[in-house]
Amino acid sequence: MSLLLDTIQRKGHDRPPVWFMRQAGRYHSHYQAIRKDHSFIEMCKRPELAIEITMGPIRAFDFDAAILFSDLLFPLEALGMGLRYEPGPKLDWYLREAGQVSQLATGGKSLISQLHFQAEAIQGLRMVLPQEKALIGFVGGLTTLYTYAVEGSHLEGVQSAVQGFQDGRWLGFCERLIPLLVENMVLQAEAGAEVIAVFDTSVGDYPVEEWTRVCLPLQKKVLEAFRHRCSKTPIIYYSKNTSFSYWDEIHASLAPDVLGIDWKTPISQAIQKYPMVLEGNLDPQDLFLPRDDLRKKFESLMESVMFLEPENRQRWIFGLGHGVLPGVPESNVRDLVQWVREIRL
Ligand code: CP3
Repeated sequence: MSLLLDTIQRKGHDRPPVWFMRQAGRYHSHYQAIRKDHSFIEMCKRPELAIEITMGPIRAFDFDAAILFSDLLFPLEALGMGLRYEPGPKLDWYLREAGQVSQLATGGKSLISQLHFQAEAIQGLRMVLPQEKALIGFVGGLTTLYTYAVEGSHLEGVQSAVQGFQDGRWLGFCERLIPLLVENMVLQAEAGAEVIAVFDTSVGDYPVEEWTRVCLPLQKKVLEAFRHRCSKTPIIYYSKNTSFSYWDEIHASLAPDVLGIDWKTPISQAIQKYPMVLEGNLDPQDLFLPRDDLRKKFESLMESVMFLEPENRQRWIFGLGHGVLPGVPESNVRDLVQWVREIRL
């Protein structure tokens, strides 16, 4: 067993597990050395490369869990939208009007073979990863994948995406994506991922009432279908720019095993409010601070958590509020992981 699974299953443990989104990435010299000779897509699609990149931060920094090195946009490629990285993601075409829904491929089950490279990497990883390290697989949430399909990125606003809630784009897109997305989660779990993370980064860009009415019921369908097939695999559901009004709905409707939150709300407040395991939530920018200032941020986060009842602080996975940013000093990542390993709950 692993510390991450023990924490999620409440088996009793003496320190929080630690892993970061994008722990294998551009800040890491190990990643850069491989990236020099290979494209990002090649690194994801060649299992021996994906395995090596996933293992990099485990060996260098001793995280408690590995997260599959891949990307969440590959299902859009499988639906026929084309995908390249320049270096940010670009699709060949975007869902600008309802008529384009019919250009998306149908039949989730037959499309899943295009994602088989993820299963191969996971199988290989489970062989080289030490037993006590959990392996996390991941997919995008429906809202996030829809936002990329319509807007290209969530940085340019979501006006067109919101219009798509009414004009048939949202429903048409989801009808085609959902079977594939469920298969993608099952593929990873059956290959050996012990936890599946759903990164729904874009959720907070939508008004909470509209998101709850339109998006949440279909995201619930995805999780229910997955749980029906893989009832033992816990789910982490992460969203960004969200707060209690969204989390109340997420808790009531999705009931994820782990709720991941960004850095804008103190994690101790969220732990007190919900019964599940919480994951977070140091500000990713803090990793740029001089070591002593980073230590102060760490200590103030710790102080607020240690103030909680022991039962409550055991429901905590140490993470960032989002992913590790390019340019972060490796020494800060190393120190932070070490400090977490010295915590006694
Ligand atoms: O270690 C890990 O956490 C696994 C790797 C991982 C990547 N992407 C690798 C990557 C994970 C978990 C993701 C998830 C992902 N991908 C999300 C959800 C989380 C989030 O950040 O909001 C999203 C929205 C994407 C889509 C995506 N892929 C974007 C927006 C970009 C470019 C900009 C950026 O921030 O990286 C990518 C490319 C990408 N995915 C890189 C990496 C290491 C950089 C590729 C490179 O140029 O080398």
